[in-house]
Amino acid sequence: MSHVTEAARRRTFAIISHPDAGKTTLTENILLAGGAIRAAGEVAARGEARRTRSDWMKIERDRGISVSASVMTFDFDGYMFNLLDTPGHEDFSEDTYRTLTAADCAVMVLDAAKGIEPQTLKLFEVCRMRDIPIITFINKMDREALEPIALLDEVQDKLQLDTAPLYWPAASGQRFAGMLDLARNQFLQFERRPGEPARIGPATEISGDTGSLKANLDPYVFAEMVEGIEMARSLLPEFDPEAFRAGNMTPVVFGSALRYFGVAELLQTLHSYAPAPRAQKAVKKGAEIMISRDDPSVSGFVFKIQANMDPNHRDRVAFLRLCSGEFRRGMRLKTTSGKQLNIHNPLMFMAQDREIAETAYAGDVIGVPNHGQLRVGDSLSENGDIQFGGIPNFAPELLRRARVKDPMKAKHLRKALESLAEEGVTQLFLPAIGSDMIVGAVGQLQFEVMIERMTAEYNLEVMFEPAPYNVARWMASDDPKKLEEFLERNKSVSGTDLDGAPVYLAKNAWDVGYAQEKNPGIRFTATKERALA
Ligand code: G4P
Repeated sequence: MSHVTEAARRRTFAIISHPDAGKTTLTENILLAGGAIRAAGEVAARGEARRTRSDWMKIERDRGISVSASVMTFDFDGYMFNLLDTPGHEDFSEDTYRTLTAADCAVMVLDAAKGIEPQTLKLFEVCRMRDIPIITFINKMDREALEPIALLDEVQDKLQLDTAPLYWPAASGQRFAGMLDLARNQFLQFERRPGEPARIGPATEISGDTGSLKANLDPYVFAEMVEGIEMARSLLPEFDPEAFRAGNMTPVVFGSALRYFGVAELLQTLHSYAPAPRAQKAVKKGAEIMISRDDPSVSGFVFKIQANMDPNHRDRVAFLRLCSGEFRRGMRLKTTSGKQLNIHNPLMFMAQDREIAETAYAGDVIGVPNHGQLRVGDSLSENGDIQFGGIPNFAPELLRRARVKDPMKAKHLRKALESLAEEGVTQLFLPAIGSDMIVGAVGQLQFEVMIERMTAEYNLEVMFEPAPYNVARWMASDDPKKLEEFLERNKSVSGTDLDGAPVYLAKNAWDVGYAQEKNPGIRFTATKERALA
């Protein structure tokens, strides 16, 4: 098959949710439905094995959280699906944001009793920024849920997204009886077996005509469902694949990930509607262009770096999302800054294992082992002349001054902090005056992870102390002179980030507002997209 045909059958997606909505359970069951794993529990079991191997990740083990995102590839019904896993803990949300830049579609999991939760909203906004189409999975229907129409209303109101249910549920909780496939008019029965594991396999189907439904459903449940469907049909638009791909409409599937209900239907929905790899914005020789998946030349960008995938080696693995061409093992690719890499051992991540990838295409994610040459946001291409945009940096919520117990090791500390910042674990700011190193993170947990890693990998005993600043903002201006003057006058509250970009370091948000008011020619921003070179 040509690279064009191969790319056209890639479907790369991520699952987003508020913690506890059921993302982990759903991920496992999608892999099961896609035939990537055999029995429920295997993903978790493998996770355990991996954790015991990497003992620096004590925190991960102790707290039962997964710090690292990864990708799982599986072949289903003619398509290659790449499921990008996003870390669940909210302290690591920046990682999640970056992972979404590599996805062409997202599944948004909602807890049927809770609807849209704060983290769902944040993640949704990132999807919207990138026009990523979203499929909604309303989970935990086996528990008491909000009214389906109220849930869809909430999606419509809070996300400004048209909802088009593909199925309609029959009650919820103890009375949950299943759902009607609205297109095929077939009813999928939910069979409850208290105390027993979920039955894996297709749900029993009965015809959706009134006679069959009446014969099989509790009369109250039947009446409730019919009323709901009538309301939905009169109030909601029909599903329009075009509006979905444009990011204006979401198809909705109901189910119970834990009970393996609706999961196969969700996978089928992905199969039917998830888009093939999108064209990506990039800059080539100073001009903005779109790189299509059909372009013959290989290109891609690094959206994540992970250290210690193999604790016996100090290697890092860069996750490269391919955007075009046919990648072949052993290829030499270049970054825009002129670094060259011969990629001899590209990794592909199947659900159960890692394999060496002989070939890969647009939409695929390969792991590129390297010794620190690659950074998050780097672009790789055959000629080193393509730079993709859009990997964001977010202003950290917490700033701390890093100190090492042994003052002789200050240089070491800086190297280690730079290295972790390159991985995208945390951010590093260097104030214009003095020799402080200010580390920024989204949450407290990241500092704890850093302390562990500093000890294990760099043999450094690090402390994080309160910093004189609490807020960091990037600065930019269309008039370089204005910015220069500002920096000259405000040395005590400015510095640079890892890329050398100017940063305003303020005590609080009020100071930022004041500085902005006094300096209208300068933009103080909480997000920085890696500049298009
Ligand atoms: P997350 O990754 O989004 O954080 O969610 P996760 O899958 O870990 O699920 C959170 C909790 O919700 C788990 O229960 C899980 O069993 C439960 N859950 C997931 N899907 C469903 C569903 O469809 N129905 C019901 N009733 N529960 C569901 P837990 O008690 O926190 O963990 P566990 O001890 O059961 O593993």
